[in-house]
Amino acid sequence: MLKGKHIILGITGGIAAYKSVSLLRLLVKAGAEVQVVITPAGKEFITPVTLSALSGKPVVSEFFTANTGEWHSHVDLGLWADCMVIAPATASSIAKMANGVADNMLITTYLSAKSPVFIAPAMDLDMMAHPSTRRNIEALRSYGNHIIEPESGFLASGLIGKGRMEEPEKIVEVLDRFFEKIENQSLAGKKVLITAGPTYEAIDPVRFIGNYSSGKMGYALAAEAARRGAEVVLVSGPVSLPAPEGNVTRVDVTSAREMLTACEKVFDEADVAIFCAAVADYAPEHVADHKIKRGDMPEMTLKLVRNPDIAATLGARRHGGQTLVGFALETDDEMVNGRSKLERKHLDMVVINSMRDAGAGFSGDTNKITVVTAAGDEKSFPLKSKTEVAADIIDCIENISR
Ligand code: C5P
Repeated sequence: MLKGKHIILGITGGIAAYKSVSLLRLLVKAGAEVQVVITPAGKEFITPVTLSALSGKPVVSEFFTANTGEWHSHVDLGLWADCMVIAPATASSIAKMANGVADNMLITTYLSAKSPVFIAPAMDLDMMAHPSTRRNIEALRSYGNHIIEPESGFLASGLIGKGRMEEPEKIVEVLDRFFEKIENQSLAGKKVLITAGPTYEAIDPVRFIGNYSSGKMGYALAAEAARRGAEVVLVSGPVSLPAPEGNVTRVDVTSAREMLTACEKVFDEADVAIFCAAVADYAPEHVADHKIKRGDMPEMTLKLVRNPDIAATLGARRHGGQTLVGFALETDDEMVNGRSKLERKHLDMVVINSMRDAGAGFSGDTNKITVVTAAGDEKSFPLKSKTEVAADIIDCIENISR
């Protein structure tokens, strides 16, 4: 998969830079065109001569060549690349990337990169475990960067622990699998309906009952399904996100009833329906046509009536060729509640996330999920960015639709 790919190999100043030479060789052997960008500290560990000889290109390190004044454009490099790999990534470079401290050519290139970025941290175990490093790595993950977690083993300090840069062969495998996935058009010809975001149930012209859903998970699913070639209809509650790129028709709705009506229009033709929206279970029975005044009322009662359950309503009229997926955001008894939703709503798969897991749920950029299927399979995934979680969910859907 790496043949002809344009790869920026970023090297920072850590002992593991010696492994970057093997990584470079493997990438070149796999047919990739590699441009090395090295930090000033990186050059203390490995020489540009070795790297330029192996890559067949001058190594970039400074903003311009001192004797000629030739400017090295990090913007052009960022546009040229199909991917950028930073290996090793030291604690210092990770902190700079996480915070946009563009004080060398490598960090400016990272900030300009339009392509996917892979980061392979390498450092001593205590630096790796430090809360600031963990926070910076999580920030990078939340920006959509791919973290290639270090292994545990012997470290240059003589200590044993987590911090050894992943082996070059494994890094190449990660890249290979990534390109295999992004070039995959496995959903070409399929129609996918996705609900996303919250619903707002009006109380009066200026007030509503809503929830904290950001819509990020549903939008990430829409982007991933479109990337795999699907025709996507994204029925979205009120969110402040731009529509995903590609073949995505976004239908904006406000209330649960509007969401159901919009879904009913496309459901029968959908091959896959993913009910990701956080739909309000109840809505005010009457919507006041004027703003309700505070007046002297010491208390106020709002009568709520049940909203339609979109997933269950459509699940009840599903046809055989469809794959239906629901979500279960739970605070307790996650697995039991998740499984009961599978049956009640006639779903093929439920994605369970727990409010008890740090980093999972509504408004963040990360999620931690367990998938259960009607066939009885169960799979848990570690904390990942919502973009990566979306790819995992769609992989699971493709597996059960086969
Ligand atoms: O029962 P609960 O609301 O927890 O179920 C969550 C799942 O059902 C999600 O997939 C959600 O999108 C869907 N749902 C729905 N309509 C509702 C309530 C939930 O489609 N009124």
